[in-house]
Amino acid sequence: MSRLIVVSNRVSVPKAAGAAGAQGGLAVALNSALREHRGIWFGWSGQETEEFTGHLNMQRISDVTTATIDLETQDIDEYYNGYANRTLWPLFHYRIDLTEYDRSFGEGYERVNARFATSVLPLIEPDDLVWVHDYHLLPLGSMLRRKGIRNRMGLFLHTPWPPTRLLVSLPFHERLVASMLEYDVIGFQTQEWLESFMHYVSKEMGLPITDDGTVEYQGRKILAKAFPIGVDYDEFVEGARSAEAQEAYERLKASIRGRKLMIGVDRLDYSKGLGERFESFGRFLTDHPDQAGNVVLLQIAPPSRGDVASYQQIREDLERKTGHINGAHADVAFVPIRYVNRGYPRSHLAGFYRAADIGLVTPLRDGMNLVAKEYVAAQDPEDPGVLILSQFAGAAQQLTEALLVNPHSIEHVSEAIKRALDMPLSERKQRHAALLASVRDEDVLRWREDFVTALFGQIDGNGTNGDK
Ligand code: ADP
Ligand code: G6P
Repeated sequence: MSRLIVVSNRVSVPKAAGAAGAQGGLAVALNSALREHRGIWFGWSGQETEEFTGHLNMQRISDVTTATIDLETQDIDEYYNGYANRTLWPLFHYRIDLTEYDRSFGEGYERVNARFATSVLPLIEPDDLVWVHDYHLLPLGSMLRRKGIRNRMGLFLHTPWPPTRLLVSLPFHERLVASMLEYDVIGFQTQEWLESFMHYVSKEMGLPITDDGTVEYQGRKILAKAFPIGVDYDEFVEGARSAEAQEAYERLKASIRGRKLMIGVDRLDYSKGLGERFESFGRFLTDHPDQAGNVVLLQIAPPSRGDVASYQQIREDLERKTGHINGAHADVAFVPIRYVNRGYPRSHLAGFYRAADIGLVTPLRDGMNLVAKEYVAAQDPEDPGVLILSQFAGAAQQLTEALLVNPHSIEHVSEAIKRALDMPLSERKQRHAALLASVRDEDVLRWREDFVTALFGQIDGNGTNGDK
């Protein structure tokens, strides 16, 4: 088994079982993917330093070896808060209205990618597979190639890939995409994002694409493919059966006193459609006065990327909306929206999901969305809750038995809430069984295996780049 050198901006391993872990699909998935595989997880420590030194901090936590570097304030501003989170993240989530272009962001992005390349270089041995993650590090592979790295290298993008007509609004878009073509394998969450990427390379760059999904570029073949990420099913189910999960379940159930419960769990991000979700619940309460006092929405939303103005804005908007809806519909002994801005250990989350009659997952755009899959995994198969899922989440391409909704339509989501509350047990069970089969079979370990196999060049036995 080759070693895996996993590289991502965020490196986050829970310090102990039961501790609140990372809040973000990438870190949650990579923790699981690496635990049973030899390798190193390299990235930013999350710490700021006065002057960049490239010093590697190596640690072994919960069976995962990590190697991290600190970044300078200017790096964090221009690369992380700047190009990654003010330029690429909004653009990749189709929000060109929020996308900011600033030359210093682009320079910071190049500089930090070069720093990552220099720092990770000594960790790479000849037989290692290098697996780079997400939009923060798109050009890293090309920088490693320039430093002479000939190892197999793959990139996996956890976010959507935007349609060509949006991507072309990015200055130097072609240079960015060309740098990605130094990887051997490029993975996307869904067929839709893959198709957008293929459209770009064929229409904008004029590159040939073969029937087996490879792009030809400068005499090389790059495999581009969808690898939908999943949850660590066994670990999650085990957590869901733990005493802590049971305690969390009972505490929450007792507090809602026989009312119906809906749950949302999302980083506080404008892509998650939280404002529309709250409004939809408000509409539901207005349209069904008989239900007022009978249904609670628990929204867990840990703050995210708080140095970026659009994130400060969404936080303020949600506080206002929560106040408004609670003001209009609360009673002395009842508050419809419980809005909680903190993280929880995964076992507690599992207990909360199980306590909820409805999982409300309504992002406006999402690469995959692991919360939808966690909600399904945590349910009691004999009395499962109903998943209401945005048609614009990558997960909707697999979880077709959820109640799929257009999250922009307040009426549509409000009607789905009504339908879910009224759904007979037989239909809930039948839908849940289909959802569970997908969540169980297409889990995170399979995702890792599929990607690693492709990187080995053995996919379908066609030996992509097998001559390297
Ligand atoms: P994203 O990667 O955009 O944040 P996902 O839904 O794919 O969205 O992944 C989010 C991950 O973060 C899930 O595994 C979820 O359980 C976890 N998470 C989100 N909020 C919390 C929280 N408050 N406490 C603990 N984990 C959280
Ligand atoms: C999404 C991104 C990840 C990121 C995570 C949390 O899942 O795809 O790359 O790590 O959000 O965001 P943060 O900025 O806190 O790392």
